[in-house]
Amino acid sequence: MKDIEAFRFQDGVLHADGIAVPQIVESAGTPTYIYSAPAIRAAYQRLDKAFSPLRVRFQYAVKSSPNLHLCRLMHDLGAGMDVVSGGELDRAWLAGASTADMVFAGVGKSDAEIRSALDGRFHTLDGVPGLEEREPEQRGPVGILNAESTSELERIAYWGTELGVRPRVCLRVNPDVDPHTHEYTTTGKEENKFGMDAPLIPDIFDEWGRDRGVDLVGLHVHIGSPVPQVEPYAEAVEVLLGLVDELERRGHKIEVLDLGGGWPINYVEGQVPPLEDYAKRLIPLLGERVENGLQVLMEPGRFIMANSGILVTRVQHVKKGRTKTFVICDAGMHTLIRPALYRAFHFVWPVSWAGEAPRLLEDPGLPDLEICDVVGPICETGDFLARNRQLPPMERGDLVAIFSAGAYGMSMVSNYNDHGRPAEVLVDGDRATLINERQALATVLATERTARELELPRPTVES
Ligand SMILES: Cc1ncc(COP(=O)(O)O)c(C=O)c1O
Repeated sequence: MKDIEAFRFQDGVLHADGIAVPQIVESAGTPTYIYSAPAIRAAYQRLDKAFSPLRVRFQYAVKSSPNLHLCRLMHDLGAGMDVVSGGELDRAWLAGASTADMVFAGVGKSDAEIRSALDGRFHTLDGVPGLEEREPEQRGPVGILNAESTSELERIAYWGTELGVRPRVCLRVNPDVDPHTHEYTTTGKEENKFGMDAPLIPDIFDEWGRDRGVDLVGLHVHIGSPVPQVEPYAEAVEVLLGLVDELERRGHKIEVLDLGGGWPINYVEGQVPPLEDYAKRLIPLLGERVENGLQVLMEPGRFIMANSGILVTRVQHVKKGRTKTFVICDAGMHTLIRPALYRAFHFVWPVSWAGEAPRLLEDPGLPDLEICDVVGPICETGDFLARNRQLPPMERGDLVAIFSAGAYGMSMVSNYNDHGRPAEVLVDGDRATLINERQALATVLATERTARELELPRPTVES
């Protein structure tokens, strides 16, 4: 399935698979995220096929699009889960994943999170309806914890000993490789907070790799998201393989290499190399080691979800300025923060459009367009979805689609300016399912309705 094939104009109206988008929003309202199940399946199968010689175990990056039903879909497709918090762990568990099939990454795991990753008695799901079918108390430790510092390693070992569990741990390596992506999503350079500097890894293995309450089973790397070039991946893998050789020389057995996520998608047609180019470069580097028993993990999120989802918003007002037109919508930085946070490009187009089918291009090159900023209702100048875009004239009440919004859209939503979270709909062929209700303001306010005085511990009196 190519880029946005799941979202196509038919008879002048945008369709999600077989369903006209206006029909969906008539029922679900706006703003609403719409995902295509066939697009998700196709992207997953493409990944699986591209890397098949490496027999990769895919761990779906829950953070990219965490809806329970999407996690369940990924689980049904055969993916394990990559979680980065106790909340995500419990979510993935609720979605049906087994903890043995999870990797727990993240730079700042708390004691409570480490404990719950090792023993389901410490979950956070009390009072969540529908839990009866799965008793978290019965779940075992997560398959792998990715440790990002020796401080974290110490806490993992502590809780392992305390709970009588031997945690399986990969060390996250900072390979000091530039992924050539936005500085805020660059995670593998020495100045970034992630992972441990590669040259320090062998000594850490020597110190921790021989029975200190943890099993150090491998190495993890994630250099950024998205990574728009092939070579930085290869560089990072080469750093890892150099470490594997050194570690094996020192007598440590490396069972697992977790290569993280970051596989890119086209926000603009032809913007990034096809996934298969990444596979072609990495397979020769890793193939023989896989034959000799190495397990490769990957943690894809964006590649599966981004072009499998759109955000649909309704135009509230159109304001004609002297130099450009402002199309003011009910979605904004609170609904999709990527443009404000990373100046990310999302293709934007009206849902009703009888002209030539637009493509994912910065300038669609069609006649009779006008320069617009597509903005939200939030009281911030940074509240925009698209700036200086050539768009067809729009009116109050029109529906607008924001493309490539299926990853890091809903997961980064906020309640800023007291807007409830958008609804989510999953389309599969000619069926549309509401998989997340629009959040009511009452829910947003619920924890503030009452106040109680804190019982403070008595100050100890110094003698
Ligand atoms: C450790 C880790 N793994 C996987 C991912 C998923 O990346 P992507 O969605 O680009 O595949 C991320 C995202 O930033 C990450 O931080």
